[in-house]
Amino acid sequence: MTASALLLEKVHATAETSLTESGYTVQRINKGLSEDELIEALSSMPEGPVMVGIRSKTHITRKVLEAVPRLDAIGCFCIGTDQVALDVARAGGVAVFNAPFSSTRSVAELVMADIVMLARRIFPRSTDAHAGRWAKSAVGAHEVRGKTLGIIGYGHIGSQLGILAEAFGMNVQYFDIEKKLPLGNTNSVGTMDELLATSDFVSLHVPDTELTRNMMTAAEIAKIKPGGYLINLSRGKVVDIDALHDALKEERLAGAAVDVYPSEPASNAEAFVSPLQGLDNVILTPHIGGSTQEAQANIGLEVATALDRFRRLGGTQGSVTLPNLDVPAASHAHSRIINIHRNVPGVLSEINQVVADSGVNIVGQSLGTNDDVGLLYIDVPVAAADGQAAKLRESIAGLETSLRTRIEAV
Ligand code: NAI
Repeated sequence: MTASALLLEKVHATAETSLTESGYTVQRINKGLSEDELIEALSSMPEGPVMVGIRSKTHITRKVLEAVPRLDAIGCFCIGTDQVALDVARAGGVAVFNAPFSSTRSVAELVMADIVMLARRIFPRSTDAHAGRWAKSAVGAHEVRGKTLGIIGYGHIGSQLGILAEAFGMNVQYFDIEKKLPLGNTNSVGTMDELLATSDFVSLHVPDTELTRNMMTAAEIAKIKPGGYLINLSRGKVVDIDALHDALKEERLAGAAVDVYPSEPASNAEAFVSPLQGLDNVILTPHIGGSTQEAQANIGLEVATALDRFRRLGGTQGSVTLPNLDVPAASHAHSRIINIHRNVPGVLSEINQVVADSGVNIVGQSLGTNDDVGLLYIDVPVAAADGQAAKLRESIAGLETSLRTRIEAV
């Protein structure tokens, strides 16, 4: 059965193009919707399974999920997924996808720009020039070539930044709690303390976890080389902002660039307040590390592709609610039964009994589980429209433990 997709909040056109080209009926509403508006909009979508694409304004609550049971896939065209009742989605077998890595390059480029702007004291010079002051001077201005960049968190962004920094002639080193393959001439250092003591620029690229919250307090900031710089475009709670303020005020640090804050305005209409405001060599940006047209286009494509793969093949790579299962090749199969079931003891033997009773030959089977649900692919050598396959799907769907069961041509 053809599925439809409702795209809200001006998600990038790449999403609509990609889903339309893949054969889905796509409807767009270019704003966020309230709970009731969303239920109404989803309920009036064409018959069959429905997917929804949102950004941060629209909330997919328990009420929405319960009111529209045919909603089985949600695309968050952003990084965060807090706007979705994830527990309810997970327990109900609803696939939720996001786009955590589409803005990697945009963030890395901004960090590189921040590094050069800080080293040359460009923002104070620019403010002077705007105010009619001609402050031509080389005092405190440096090239970045030959300086050392210390990256904490050598993941997608950290490693991309390392490549850009090397192209500028910087020496790059990193500290990560996981073993990572260093790219280019980058060196890994054994401890964070070593990195802080030996880097001219320290840039943070860690996730928000219990380990990283307040990772940079007064004690750690004091370990940065005198005259060093701290850059945070990762998450706001990683740095003790008052301690950073003190280090900058006392000129122990030469400067900082900050894009993320412990508390941020909910919208552009709200005022932004930070102890770092008014400090000379501090670049403050409003959480725009990933805010580029290119990143938006990538996000549109990344999430639309994930929704399509889930729809056609049951693929869940990157899903934040369902077990992540690689889509196996279905070389001798004509169709795939995709079953999402409650993860309780005995489910598999029940399903296998149903399969054994059906007389349909099985050419492939894969299972992935998380605490709540199991995801099972059963590949069969008969067409989805074949009566035998349809009957098998129906029998599996009828099991008490089954949440969602469909059959797709592969
Ligand atoms: P990633 O998951 O690819 O990399 C994070 C790295 O940090 C991993 O290699 C991990 O092993 C490491 N790590 C975790 N805990 C650590 C610790 N205690 N010490 C050292 N290393 C640790 O994440 P990605 O995509 O590189 O993103 C990094 C951060 O940037 C995230 O917090 C993300 O939310 C943020 N971000 C900010 C944006 C902005 O607009 N400013 C846009 C996109 C991402």
